[in-house]
Amino acid sequence: MAVLLAKNLGWSKERLRAFGIGCLLHDLGKIFIDSDILNKPAKLDASKFDRMKAHPLLGYELVKSMLGSSSNLIHHVAYQHHERQDGSGYPRGISGKNILGQNKAKYDS
Ligand SMILES: [Fe+2]
Repeated sequence: MAVLLAKNLGWSKERLRAFGIGCLLHDLGKIFIDSDILNKPAKLDASKFDRMKAHPLLGYELVKSMLGSSSNLIHHVAYQHHERQDGSGYPRGISGKNILGQNKAKYDS
């Protein structure tokens, strides 16, 4: 679905391919999270949630080590997939004022 959305924004085939790979690998960092945390049916306590919040960075580092720096987009899908526009996401709490389609011309090719 994310790739279809990006396609409708006019992204190039190469960028769509990198984005798709990033989407497939986005939660790879969860392999470093204990299964009792991943599978806990109830709300996580603060320390366990802190551990869970590490998976984007762990995934970013793993994907980057596997693929090198061939496409930053692939790594950053893993790194930023829990970020939110209002800054309440993780791991960095970055914020923005992005509007869907606003940068369309930037990625047209
Ligand atoms: Fe995730």
